[in-house]
Amino acid sequence: MTGIHSRRLVVVGSGIAGLYASLLAADAGLDVVLLTKGDLQESNTWYAQGGISAVLDEPAPGDTVAAHIADTLKAGAGHCNQEAVRLLCTEARRDIAGLQRFGVRFDVDDDGDPALGLEAAHSAPRILHAGGDATGAGVADALIRAVLARQAKGTIRLFAHAHATALLQTHGRVTGVELTHDDASVTVGADAVLLATGGAGRLFAQTTNPAVATADGLALGWRAGAAVADLEFFQFHPTCLVNPAGAQREPMLISEAVRGEGAILADSNGKRFMPEYHPDAELAPRDVVSRSIALHLAKLGDPNGHVYLDARGIERSKGRGFLAKRFPTLSARTREAGIDWTRELVPVAPAAHYWMGGITTDLHARTSVPGLYAAGEVACTGVHGANRLASNSLLEGLVFGRRAVESFLQGGTDSSGGDPEACIKGWPLAAEGPRDQGSLAELARRGGSWGARGGLPFDESQPATGFKPAPGPGPFSRDALRRLMTAKAGVLRNGVLLREAAAVLGGWAADGGPRGVEDANLLLASQLLVRAALGRRESLGAHYRSDSPVDAAMIEELEESYRMRPKASLVHE
Ligand code: FAD
Ligand code: SIN
Repeated sequence: MTGIHSRRLVVVGSGIAGLYASLLAADAGLDVVLLTKGDLQESNTWYAQGGISAVLDEPAPGDTVAAHIADTLKAGAGHCNQEAVRLLCTEARRDIAGLQRFGVRFDVDDDGDPALGLEAAHSAPRILHAGGDATGAGVADALIRAVLARQAKGTIRLFAHAHATALLQTHGRVTGVELTHDDASVTVGADAVLLATGGAGRLFAQTTNPAVATADGLALGWRAGAAVADLEFFQFHPTCLVNPAGAQREPMLISEAVRGEGAILADSNGKRFMPEYHPDAELAPRDVVSRSIALHLAKLGDPNGHVYLDARGIERSKGRGFLAKRFPTLSARTREAGIDWTRELVPVAPAAHYWMGGITTDLHARTSVPGLYAAGEVACTGVHGANRLASNSLLEGLVFGRRAVESFLQGGTDSSGGDPEACIKGWPLAAEGPRDQGSLAELARRGGSWGARGGLPFDESQPATGFKPAPGPGPFSRDALRRLMTAKAGVLRNGVLLREAAAVLGGWAADGGPRGVEDANLLLASQLLVRAALGRRESLGAHYRSDSPVDAAMIEELEESYRMRPKASLVHE
């Protein structure tokens, strides 16, 4: 058995999962190499606004870990992995303390206690935030400082602008990564690799995600044979600022916390419409609000239009200056966009925000490929089910990033004494097989290459027959792919649209696919998403098929079962 100091963990990605895991691993004495494809702060994490959900030792009156579990299961539309949810919610306070040890400071109220925000589908205020609405920047900034301090001491080796392009494998086990850095191709060996590469909002034309969110980790894992799951579930955030015609601006989310403080949604006639769609109105789960906006716009005959967020009442009820104090970044950014939101309505529409699906992992962040861990948005632990509860994503990156490091420290990859067969057997998901989309991993193993080099086969139950590529998509371009995905695999889907999307994507892949690494990853991820969406014929959570409307009885049953607290056996505080 090699000593701890010689065991190397390569971490790919500098969002919350990668930064936190790197710090824990370095402080435990591991040899840590941290790679990220842009600057350190280029991540979804940096832009997070609302905060991190956690039930602390002194929660809001009446709040409990059991309630956090129940809210998460309910928002996830009954599709969550209950054990993963239990871990997420019970271990939250431990990792919040971990963040604080690395220098993260959360906002406090007038008594010096944590200021807890409320967000949609949470039954109590339990969202910790920093800088009002700049939680991501506050958290990432502190973690980056801690990483740089360890780099200076030589306990973390850090490579920015290092783009991971492939996973190295020996006898079926991941043994390092291939990357490009300064235009050179380099390989880095590892005892294990932790993928913390984040999400894939750039699959869609309208997204809250920054440019780095191009599904790289999913594609790397898939090509290495990793099982993936729940790819049909992509969450659209209801309130992304709509740019005035012609204005080219980076996406701007308007946090759900604004609705948590009392903002409402109105249509172009000035009518508040959410109460028609859900009893919790603007504070219904996120998938419900986005879908209701889309359905309402379609009803008004303006499917590509927008609605309005009305925050004026907050200022009236909580006093002048409240919005600027509670949401300083949003106040400044709306002002830059020419809107005084204390007096004017904010035009908003749903935008691609978060991928619930990803690389299948167990409770220790192990993928189905020995030597490969995944944590954060790239992973599918099952905690989010079919629709993520607000502010549970940063938390997932923390809890499962830590659990990956703990597993590696306990010899997660090295219990075999070097025997690859034994190592694979000792790696649970490899033995058990994938939770959900097993046939896809099998196809990857059999078919070998995907994306840039080949078309995506369909299973026989979903033949792509009878579908000619829809006229107009033309040759591949990233913009064309993003428009296609929004039009045919977005908030509202159906079999016809999805099959049209599959045909166009397949055509692009068969033509040799794009040359760029990110474009190839986006094309592969789109194919996988569309295939999964075709495979799930019923509507569930964020996957809404107009040809198979939501099963009202199932929703009622779900509401009823989580109206009670979850079984005592789920909660071990
Ligand atoms: P990320 O933070 O996305 O980091 C991924 C990293 O991997 C990046 O550094 C990227 O450059 C790097 N990378 C990617 N591919 C490669 C490659 N091939 N080679 C090398 N490096 C690579 N969640 C909440 O819980 N609360 C919130 O308030 C909240 N607000 C949000 C607001 C916005 C605008 C957005 C976009 C998301 C928000 N989310 C929120 C979701 C949450 O921010 C993300 O899900 C979470 O930050 C993901 O963290 P991560 O560490 O998995 O990935
Ligand atoms: C938001 O602030 O609305 C985003 C929260 C999240 O994505 O969890």
